[in-house]
Amino acid sequence: MQEKFIVAIDGPAGAGKSTVAKILAEKLSYIYIDTGAMYRAIAWKCLQVSEKPTQETIEELVQNTCVKFVPNKNGTSVYVDDIDVTEAIRTPEVSANVSAIAQNEMVRKVLTAMQQEMGKSGGVVMDGRDIGTCVFPEAKYKIYLTATVQERAERRYKELIAKGYNCELAKLQEEIAARDHSDMTRAISPLTKALDAIEIDSSTLTIQETVDLLYGICVGGNDVV
Ligand code: DC
Repeated sequence: MQEKFIVAIDGPAGAGKSTVAKILAEKLSYIYIDTGAMYRAIAWKCLQVSEKPTQETIEELVQNTCVKFVPNKNGTSVYVDDIDVTEAIRTPEVSANVSAIAQNEMVRKVLTAMQQEMGKSGGVVMDGRDIGTCVFPEAKYKIYLTATVQERAERRYKELIAKGYNCELAKLQEEIAARDHSDMTRAISPLTKALDAIEIDSSTLTIQETVDLLYGICVGGNDVV
């Protein structure tokens, strides 16, 4: 039987990780796991309890929450306990609060264990911030996908406008830079490129070109980018 390996894709917000990871997983017939959605799901649940939850509330809540991915005809739905939060976790409110939740040690411990369980048999493409460094440091393929702050802000702007949100490009750029700073400087599992990860800058690449590069790395054995 062909080996089913783990593909770890890390990088900053808006670099295109989830878009390319999803397509890559389909091409490989693997399962795609969006770990950012899991942090968003916990942030969403915390916001249902309070606008400013205490550390105790967050810790108690994460230990009593089930986050699930359920396949549907259009892709995958995200569930918190029995509630479908697929759309709710993408609001600007959740985006603005998720970094703080992702810094909590208990949240990281619980979600990391869930992610390790989900990927233990291989055959997964998992994206996030610490997959190649903490969740699966032994992953066969590790990609660090990045793009300039300006390019990432423009992509997020187009996405939000298409969904009907009112937003300003300059403000999004500031928020992305602030989120990068918070993700890269937090004490536990900060966003960093694993020493053995292959770095790809997608600023000037199309989605298809990025997927082709990744697929080539995983299947064709290309290891220089
Ligand atoms: O990729 P995203 O924007 O949906 O991620 C949401 C937040 O979760 C972001 O602030 C970083 C955090 N995150 C993390 O700390 N570790 C992960 N493995 C995935 C996401």
